[in-house]
Amino acid sequence: MRCFVAIDVSEQVRLSVRGAIEKVKGLSRGVRWVPPDHVHLTLKFLGEADEAMAPQIQERLSLLCSRHDPFALTVRGTGGFPNLRRPNVLWVGIDESGPLSLLNRDIEQSMAELGFERETKRFSPHITVGRVKSMDGLEAVVREWITFKDAVFGTITVGETLLMKSTLKPGGAEYSKLAAFKLAI
Ligand code: 2AM
Repeated sequence: MRCFVAIDVSEQVRLSVRGAIEKVKGLSRGVRWVPPDHVHLTLKFLGEADEAMAPQIQERLSLLCSRHDPFALTVRGTGGFPNLRRPNVLWVGIDESGPLSLLNRDIEQSMAELGFERETKRFSPHITVGRVKSMDGLEAVVREWITFKDAVFGTITVGETLLMKSTLKPGGAEYSKLAAFKLAI
């Protein structure tokens, strides 16, 4: 199974992200926008994992999440990876958060102990909202996208993390929740 650890967004964030997408999506057919119910913040991409590993993964996540207190995140700004001149991904940003970095570090450590590869890139929390499929019309999208560069999309009270399964389909990935892990139980 292909899986990842994520934080779900609040309804407030889901709605405001949807609003921003609605304003730009008509400008190009070259971007595959993330459906509102798929919007999430990835904490750790695990990739392919043996189904038999699921109990161990869940046990580890449950234990480490219980050592973290719930915290709040502010969702703010927009940008693109690797940059906005030639973006592959359009994202909505997350304000700097110590508790989020610590949670990510703990998950990296714990999953590395189970044999998952450590992320080599610095953790750069973001919410992916669009994946660029062609450059056609992209300039207009980017011009509009940067008008939200300082916009606040809302807050998320993080009370749990999710282990998600991703199934790749021709029309884009399908996600399903395998388990939820409460912070500070
Ligand atoms: P991102 O798009 O939020 O950056 C589920 O596929 C999630 O895992 C995606 O939302 C993506 O995060 C992340 N992901 C997918 N493939 C990945 C890869 N090869 N390396 C790192 N993260 C990946």
